[in-house]
Amino acid sequence: MTTTTPSGQGVQPQGPQSQGPQPQGVSLGMPQLPAPDYPDDVRARLEADAREVVARYPDSRSALLPLLHLVQSEEGHVTRTGQRFCAEVLGLTTAEVTAVATFYSMYRRRPGGDYQVGVCTNTLCAVMGGDAIFEALQEHLGVGNGETTDDGKVTLEHIECNAACDFAPVVMVNWEFFDNQTVQSAKGLVDDLRAGARVEPTRGAPLCTFKDTSRILAGFPDERPGAVEAGGTAGHASLTGLRLAKGEAGPARVVHPRGSGTPAAAGTPAASGDSRDGSPHDPSPTEHLSSHDAPQDTAASDPDHPAGPAAEEGE
Ligand code: FES
Repeated sequence: MTTTTPSGQGVQPQGPQSQGPQPQGVSLGMPQLPAPDYPDDVRARLEADAREVVARYPDSRSALLPLLHLVQSEEGHVTRTGQRFCAEVLGLTTAEVTAVATFYSMYRRRPGGDYQVGVCTNTLCAVMGGDAIFEALQEHLGVGNGETTDDGKVTLEHIECNAACDFAPVVMVNWEFFDNQTVQSAKGLVDDLRAGARVEPTRGAPLCTFKDTSRILAGFPDERPGAVEAGGTAGHASLTGLRLAKGEAGPARVVHPRGSGTPAAAGTPAASGDSRDGSPHDPSPTEHLSSHDAPQDTAASDPDHPAGPAAEEGE
């Protein structure tokens, strides 16, 4: 085991543990100190931004998460310099900052592309096609999990549930939603990103680069026209519990997945036209925005491949 002195020199501990061959090229994930400084002009600019962020909180250390986004917006990932900056501004140790920066997956710890493409491979998305999409994108882009294309445009990763299961399988680009994806639509999406074509998320604000996204997440205004007004919300299935808690009738109609047209089984609430609480239910299509009811067209949807569990190409 190697410890680090304040001057950053690695020291092998004395005693039996130091005997024998030492592993070569094995990163223990420990920050190397001291981190280099930002250039003076960058430091001055970041300090001004940091003061604005810190002023929002009664306790300065509460500003750590947005400050990590701020330094990430500078270099595209949270560098040792960025961690040191956060520690100095907030009066924390670099160990405390590192502990937070390495806990949350939204902070990148190594350089990445302009677009962080995350394929949800959590349970529901996985069975609805997420695993197939992730595998296909790895092959299509020639990169593995956490790796970046040679042109520096796309970093691919698999992600955990993003609370958008209604719209499975979900792909996120810089944390914006691309719902109801297929292998083909996901390939088209990354191709467009790499080509610099305009890409619209299914809902929410327009897409911007990872650095710009990080600055917005630090709490600075998104000044692009229409960005703030852009809407987006959870699907009906996600909100059913909330509606029931409010005493509203929940949509209890059971519909064959993906709007295949297969009628619900006889005896189900859908077949009888009744909702779960016994009240008449209006099966208006507008109530069924979930992908489990009817696929939605998105900017990245592939019209030749209706949403549904993705199969390997050629099957
Ligand atoms: S499992 Fe993918 S969004 Fe929930």
